[in-house]
Amino acid sequence: MSGRLKSNIDPHSEDFTSNAKALRQKTEEIRELWERLANGGGEKNRQLHEGRGKLFVRDRIKLLLDSGSPFLEVGAFAATSVYDFEAPSAGIVCGVGLVEGRPVMIVANDATVKGGTYVPLTVKKHLRAQDIALENRLPCVYLVDSGGAFLPMQDEVFPDRDHFGRIFYNQARLSAAGIPQIACVMGSCTAGGAYIPAMSEETVIVRGHGTIFLGGPPLVKAATGEEVTPEELGGADVHTRESGVADYAAVNDEEALSIVRRIVANLGSDNPVLGGDGAMAAGHSQPHHGGATAGLTNSDHSNLTFSGKNQPFEEPLYPAEDIYGIIPESSSKSFDIREIIARVVDGSEFHEFKPDYGTTIVTGFARIYGMQAGIIGNNGVLFSESALKTTHFIELCTQRKIPLLFLQNITGFMVGKKYESSGIARDGAKMVHAVSNANVPKISLVIGGSYGAGNYGMCGRAFGPRFLWMWPNARISVMGPEQAANVLATVKKDQLAREGKEWSAEEEQSFKEPILRDYNQRSSSVYSSARLWDDGIIDPADTRRVLGLSLAICNRTGNQETNYGVFRM
Ligand code: COA
Repeated sequence: MSGRLKSNIDPHSEDFTSNAKALRQKTEEIRELWERLANGGGEKNRQLHEGRGKLFVRDRIKLLLDSGSPFLEVGAFAATSVYDFEAPSAGIVCGVGLVEGRPVMIVANDATVKGGTYVPLTVKKHLRAQDIALENRLPCVYLVDSGGAFLPMQDEVFPDRDHFGRIFYNQARLSAAGIPQIACVMGSCTAGGAYIPAMSEETVIVRGHGTIFLGGPPLVKAATGEEVTPEELGGADVHTRESGVADYAAVNDEEALSIVRRIVANLGSDNPVLGGDGAMAAGHSQPHHGGATAGLTNSDHSNLTFSGKNQPFEEPLYPAEDIYGIIPESSSKSFDIREIIARVVDGSEFHEFKPDYGTTIVTGFARIYGMQAGIIGNNGVLFSESALKTTHFIELCTQRKIPLLFLQNITGFMVGKKYESSGIARDGAKMVHAVSNANVPKISLVIGGSYGAGNYGMCGRAFGPRFLWMWPNARISVMGPEQAANVLATVKKDQLAREGKEWSAEEEQSFKEPILRDYNQRSSSVYSSARLWDDGIIDPADTRRVLGLSLAICNRTGNQETNYGVFRM
């Protein structure tokens, strides 16, 4: 029996056309936002920065990467509209790309945004990048150009466990785990920030621009009365000739980046705890669907592909752009998740597991660029049977060491007396147990709603997916806006009833309106991405590429045993 999925959509229908228009427009809005953010601190700051003979952060990354390398950007939307000042991308650019053929995590300060200082979300993003490096055994390259802690918010960036100090703790732990730490000091590197190069295994510093010191000239003057220039206090000559805090001096950014490339070329064999069948490589041309993907600087990198180790693969049978027309404009309308799978996996081949049981969730095996994945996709509300089927399927994947891919579009588990009394919470808990303990790489993509306990069962952020991506239309919150407004209105109505008061329909409506507005605003993909609840918003038409990259990165690490806890029977 052929396992090829057959699409049943009509691309000429009215629904398809209006859906496509709506999702394309949302995607375009996200793309425009990304383009604005990718400009960093704006034209004026950029001119000042470049006028000093320094390269803009994204140009530095481009020079560091192999020509044609992909760049899987993480946290591009961080800090959007979060503070009462602008901090595009939280003033730091992070992502995975190839240097000398080897995937590395790049963490690069953008000095055009508040002098590259660390606001709370800069710290969170830097730590997230280090987490990804640890889980996927990626060498880290820090392109440092930062004034250190953003002083007005020091209480939110300095003292706690996951604050500034954690960056250096992570560097020590990563190094001890055999994951190389490389710093390139291309600007200021002050106070606590000085530990980034000092904690690194090899450090490059740019003459005339790079400075490393625990206390800058103003502090020195205030403390001891000594007058000293930044270069005399902590420039390239001081650190490469006298202090030994840095190892190589470069004349400019370009030379510094080429030294970093040579350092990476000499890291020894790329010996992740091998396993899995994915490799990440720049290769021959393949059609690149859609425009630029938000969260991916791929407009320059359209000639990419990923190859499994000599695994030949077929493209899906159906065009990725169809996805725009398949996703209903109204999130309350359903669609068949297989239509999405058919546009993501190799040859649209899907070996569906238990196709006739627990049909509100779809589980099955497929390949993406030749790499195996166990796919779990929502096709309606979760019932006991759907949870049991998924638990069984996760057991299959962990036993066979196959990475899991979650396609989230879930309102939650079924509610009601019948379902509670037959133990839906017990079966949901089995699914949550299985997801939590599954010791294979997990990747989540939110393609619609991600609500309530459905978020848990479908590997939301708390369940440690190695990557979590959102589509522009995706939403995440404890429940949907209408449900939240209704719950709160019912609570209020009961309170009033206890006091013998009544509520008019208008009063109820005006009570609900701000709740609806609030929930709508605070569950959007940009709201989520700004707070780093996810790793980025992607163009739906780029799903295959992004998932392929994510899988290739995850597949660098070996297969560990899974031990489940006690399932409630
Ligand atoms: N906290 C908060 N804001 C800071 C800051 C800090 N540590 N350092 C710089 N800024 C802000 C500036 O107020 C300015 O904000 P604006 O764009 O709203 O005007 C912006 O960053 C750029 O600063 P500026 O000094 O104009 O830029 P520069 O490129 O000439 O110099 C630095 C950048 C980082 C070298 C310089 O500002 C500096 O030395 N800062 C102090 C660093 C420090 O001592 N940090 C201690 C950390 S524990």
